[in-house]
Amino acid sequence: MHKANRFRRESMCGIVGFLGKKRKTTFLIDKLNLLEYRGYDSAGYAELSEGKIYYSKKVGRIINLKESINEDSEITCAIAHTRWATHGKVTETNSHPHLSKTEEWAIVHNGIIENYEVLKKNLKFSPKSDTDTAVIAERLEELNINTIEDFIKSFDDVSGSFGLAAICKTKKNTIFLGKRKSPLFISQNKEGDFLIASDPICFKDFGTDYYCFEDNEFAEVNENGLTFYNSNLNIIKKRKARLDSLFKSYGKNGYSTFMMKEIFDESEALKNQVAYYKSQKIFEPLNKEFLESFNKVKLIGCGTAYHASEIGAKYFQKILNIDASAEYASEFIYNEPLLDNNKTLFIFVSQSGETADTLGALKIAKKLNSTCICLTNVMYSSLARLGDIVLPVAAGVEVAVASTKAYTCQLSALYMLASHLGNIKNRRNINYFDEIIKLSDKVLKFDKEQLNKLSSFLKDCNECIFIGKDLDFITAKEASLKLKETTYINSSSYPSGELKHGYLALIEEGTRVFAIACEKKLNIKTINSVKEAAARGADVTILTNDEGLKNEENVIYFSEENEFLLPILSIAPIQYLSCKTSLLKGINPDQPRNLAKSVTVE
Ligand code: AGP
Repeated sequence: MHKANRFRRESMCGIVGFLGKKRKTTFLIDKLNLLEYRGYDSAGYAELSEGKIYYSKKVGRIINLKESINEDSEITCAIAHTRWATHGKVTETNSHPHLSKTEEWAIVHNGIIENYEVLKKNLKFSPKSDTDTAVIAERLEELNINTIEDFIKSFDDVSGSFGLAAICKTKKNTIFLGKRKSPLFISQNKEGDFLIASDPICFKDFGTDYYCFEDNEFAEVNENGLTFYNSNLNIIKKRKARLDSLFKSYGKNGYSTFMMKEIFDESEALKNQVAYYKSQKIFEPLNKEFLESFNKVKLIGCGTAYHASEIGAKYFQKILNIDASAEYASEFIYNEPLLDNNKTLFIFVSQSGETADTLGALKIAKKLNSTCICLTNVMYSSLARLGDIVLPVAAGVEVAVASTKAYTCQLSALYMLASHLGNIKNRRNINYFDEIIKLSDKVLKFDKEQLNKLSSFLKDCNECIFIGKDLDFITAKEASLKLKETTYINSSSYPSGELKHGYLALIEEGTRVFAIACEKKLNIKTINSVKEAAARGADVTILTNDEGLKNEENVIYFSEENEFLLPILSIAPIQYLSCKTSLLKGINPDQPRNLAKSVTVE
């Protein structure tokens, strides 16, 4: 356990690198800032200048690093890093870049070198840092790595994952790069300068296209240009990808946090998604033959994406009358699937497309020869590249750790998919595109004043509970997760019918209860549970489409007839409430403590 945690310290980091004509060092640090959203606890950079490596590492925010650098200093060849720790000390020694004993090499790394202890035993000098990355830096020096070929070969006996960039004091204006499992990209702008990054978001305002490293690909970039190699030392030709135009809208747009901005993006994002699906004829290949190719659907994701998967499973059950279920990726990986044929359609849901558990589950499904649909917001992600069919979640860049617009767009994509297949199966013609467009105009219509007031009570709460039935129970789970991660209030979620089987014992005067009651046939049941809780002194807020309750106090009302779409309407006010409460508590909802946007380790 301890050993695994030591690896994990180096896992969800951010990498940038620059090689080109002189630029202010702050250019690179500003690029590092674009990776802030991933979460980090220290930052560092190293540059190569006149045969020497200069570096600075600082614990805490990127601004600490920026302040340690002379603002007039310039770079031509440099690498930088944000490190995100989950366990162990956050120290400058453990921060990247890691340098070899005589400071000949400096490297930044994202990933896990699984056999680093074995590799370390073979070193003459034991690095001061106890990280796996430091071992790689030292090895480069001790193995006398001179050429890119030597560099590539040195990874033959390295196991684990890496996206890394290395500079060497004897190699003027040269950066060596390598990738296995962890993402790595490089872009060249029209002036011929190169930018390296672990997320193409850094290429915004730099280039118009970029290369994406595949597993076990390496590269040397220097004044003569960029050359890619595979692990057999063969030079390879690669195709460029266009930079996502959505990056153009990256920014807080006047909102104080990304989370709030992203909630208010939701209406537009739903519309954009429909426009994209229509123009790209996304569903065209999913025809009758495709429908007949499976008799079971398994949806897989983590956290919020798991909740979207659960709702998606309900859509498949209810619209297509098919056996559909959702599973946590982290559970699926360790439960040998009981599938006796390849007639299971897998759908993997992930905002980032880089979640290690979800990728692990995808690899298992692929081994079963099943068709794998990947639903992701990041079209250059590993998930998008590995899926048989990729459904885009066209939500635009989502920066806040707490997922909001990606979730509502995931639900809308899953609804459109199930409805499209339902139209084929049931020979009907439901216009799901129009339905989503109509819904998108309602999604932000909740009463902000009512929720602002509620947040001022909620901020002093220690605990609250969300209840609901069927689809509403899943919304209750997502609502509870959103509130927990952004406000640190301990919240639970229960099927409303389960209250009387245990949780009721915890209800007392002032307990906060949120009841989601949006399914017409089941509302009455949830309202009964509300009464049971209220009779014991609970303060209840009801989110409902029940017209009869419309004018009651403490009711958040939605007018929407399509019950499948109500989970989109009922989560938005809770996202807003969570964000507001978070801000009132002085928490930054974009970067809740201990959490990262993209969880790239199991
Ligand atoms: C969402 O608010 C959470 N931060 C988290 O649960 C997230 O949904 C989960 O880690 C999965 O991420 P993914 O969608 O990028 O795979």
